[in-house]
Amino acid sequence: MKILVIGSGGREHALVWKLAQSPHASRIWCAPANAGIAGERLVSNGSSVESLPIAAEDLPRLAAFAREQRVDLTVVGPDNPLALGIVDLFQGEGLRIWGPNQKAAQFESSKVFSQAFMERHGIPTARAGSFEDVGAARAFTDSLGGRCAVKADGLALGKGVLLCHSVPEAHEAIDEILVKQSFGTAGRKVVIQELLEGVEVSLHALCDGTTARLFPTSQDHKRALDGDQGLNTGGMGTYCPTPFMTEEALAEAGRAILDPWLRGCAAEGIDFRGILYPGVMLTRTGPKVLEFNARFGDPETQVYLTRLENDLVELLEASVEGRLGSVELKWRPGASVCVVLASGGYPGAYAKGRPITGLSEAEGIADVKVFHAGTALRGLDVVTNGGRVLGVTAWGASLAVARDRAYAAADRIAFEGRQLRRDIAVKGLR
Ligand code: AMP
Ligand code: GLY
Repeated sequence: MKILVIGSGGREHALVWKLAQSPHASRIWCAPANAGIAGERLVSNGSSVESLPIAAEDLPRLAAFAREQRVDLTVVGPDNPLALGIVDLFQGEGLRIWGPNQKAAQFESSKVFSQAFMERHGIPTARAGSFEDVGAARAFTDSLGGRCAVKADGLALGKGVLLCHSVPEAHEAIDEILVKQSFGTAGRKVVIQELLEGVEVSLHALCDGTTARLFPTSQDHKRALDGDQGLNTGGMGTYCPTPFMTEEALAEAGRAILDPWLRGCAAEGIDFRGILYPGVMLTRTGPKVLEFNARFGDPETQVYLTRLENDLVELLEASVEGRLGSVELKWRPGASVCVVLASGGYPGAYAKGRPITGLSEAEGIADVKVFHAGTALRGLDVVTNGGRVLGVTAWGASLAVARDRAYAAADRIAFEGRQLRRDIAVKGLR
């Protein structure tokens, strides 16, 4: 089977690595890929994964390539091409593609849509309102005493959420999005939610239009610095599973969130085939959905796929073809931990092109895989090429073992300005 993976981050490296282990995969391309993805080989025939210099948003060229090469399955990593309708475009041309179509991708591309959907279908979420009008938005934040999350409606690179603890802060956040338009057209509307307190977890469910198969829980570390200090990032590290939900509690959350979500999708003619990734706050009154994403998390994918025992090609085909009802997900016992190595200055300005050393020494440790995110090849050298550079991922019989391994591997890797958190998965050990 010929497979095209779209995207170039750590998530896509993990997807490619796992797909390359499938006996069904005979050729894999990745557009636009990174240095680590280009270094992967297929288990079935030893061939290399091929990088394709086409941007993830260049839908016409991606479709033309898939047509010319008769690609059997295209796998979409990032949110942008999904929101642009890549799935509809490919399907319209008779090309098989995995991911939600444009209507289904609205769960991520519009927070106003998602919030209203949750309210229509009784999915537990924060008390919230959606606004275009500054005065009405301000009045709502005042009614919450200023303790709220002000969110730009559309995609904003994970930066469109402003957490506020006072009325002046909330008014400033509303101005930022609705008046100053700091997020452009993504901020024509805002969703304002009450501020929820509790432990935050990532849920993932693989969906096929009628069935949703829930993964174990994971937890991301979104702030740049230890102790959840500093600026919000794309994610500085993850671990799986978390100790915050028993299997029973997870199944219960699945019933509370996914059952009404599936019923709502059926009622509204939404055919969701892909990953639904709800960000959930475990509050004193139960789990509440903060937001939906319509794709694999990054770096959640890195810890999930190092524990997944199923053949990923078979799973994605079952998702595309509506056959998940007869599929059971199997997970390696124990835990996985991913520690992100970022460029100095990230999530602000950072340098690129710094040589990276110690990659093979890190992967010399058993049960370690270094997923590349922002890397490139310069001659034979691997150099930094983004904010998040690597996701050093390890697995083991326990969270403590996996964590020690991930840090031992991370400490063998060096590049100028290397930045990492030292407390990934610490919450899970307590
Ligand atoms: P989102 O992109 O909507 O998940 O928001 C980004 C981050 O902001 C989340 O991961 C949470 O840590 C935080 N957040 C979002 N909404 C709320 C809320 N209603 N209450 C508390 N924290 C929130
Ligand atoms: N881990 C955060 C995200 O993928 O949105």
